[in-house]
Amino acid sequence: MKQQLEEIKQRALQALDGASSPAALEELRVKLLGKKGELTAVLKQMGKLSAEERPVMGQLANAVRASIEDKLEQRKTELHAAALKAKLQAETIDVTIPGTPVSMGHQHPMNKALQEAKDIFVGMGYTVVDGPEVELADYNFTRLNIEPGHPSRDRSDTFYFDDGDQVLLRTQTSPMQIRVMEKTKPPIRIVAPGRVYRKDEADATHSPMFHQIEGLVVDEGITMGDLKGALETLIKRLYGEDAVIRFRPHHFPFTEPSCEVDMQCFKCHGTGEFDGHVCSTCHGEGWIELLGAGMVHPDVLEGCGIDSKKYSGFAFGIGLERMAMGRMRINDMRLLFDNDVRFLSQF
Ligand code: PHE
Repeated sequence: MKQQLEEIKQRALQALDGASSPAALEELRVKLLGKKGELTAVLKQMGKLSAEERPVMGQLANAVRASIEDKLEQRKTELHAAALKAKLQAETIDVTIPGTPVSMGHQHPMNKALQEAKDIFVGMGYTVVDGPEVELADYNFTRLNIEPGHPSRDRSDTFYFDDGDQVLLRTQTSPMQIRVMEKTKPPIRIVAPGRVYRKDEADATHSPMFHQIEGLVVDEGITMGDLKGALETLIKRLYGEDAVIRFRPHHFPFTEPSCEVDMQCFKCHGTGEFDGHVCSTCHGEGWIELLGAGMVHPDVLEGCGIDSKKYSGFAFGIGLERMAMGRMRINDMRLLFDNDVRFLSQF
């Protein structure tokens, strides 16, 4: 029996040394130490032994069991370490492989143009203010001298929210003139950029939503000369000293006198023709309308509680898309709203 136990031990240790996976180890454990294992089988015969032999064999059997268990533990540790090493080697990271490129966005050209214009005005001492896009007809029209029945109040031009035509999407940033003047005493010097809405079909130079920058200066002794100076400064800073612009008499109900300022078309250079066709950017005009302006109407000042005998002011409204298009040589306004990155990434 002693020899049997020795053999079992030798074979077991050898088998364990040869086991090459945790699964193989587990199989061996069951086979060697389990209820149906060889060692158990031998132990079951202990009853046949004499009283003197039994403790001796018992001790030996326990020693055999212990050395098998020790070996099992040792192999387990070894196999685990080997598996870990193999895994680490397999998962080695090559830090020299180029990474997946992350595409970085940048400011939209409209935002750039707006930022530029704001910087220029802030540099001239203007404050930037913000106002609502959903506006009352009272501010958008009535208090700007645009009486009920005026064509620009027509439902075919303006987006209204209510049947009574009292609440609308502002058609211009000029209501900001009223909002500022009713709250602030002169001197006033503000610009108010933002979105405006009109029922226009979209084409190369029109969109139902576009941006304006309203400007308003009210103080003692403000003249048309101040207006011209401010606008010329803006346009020369934006387009360069040699930009060709013209002031053209016009009519706005809320300014008197009024004018529009045009810039020579950057595509056809004022000829109205491009490639033998009518220029699509200026519709053959040779000029692109940039802004409307004028001296604040005395009735508008008085309506906001400002003494029109003491104070005068000028106001202007710049079309930001047109400005950006001229600045960046973009010939179709719709490109600014399509958000095609192939287009946007050029700026
Ligand atoms: N609000 C006018 C427009 O949208 C422009 C304007 C602004 C004219 C301020 C005069 C003074 O056409």
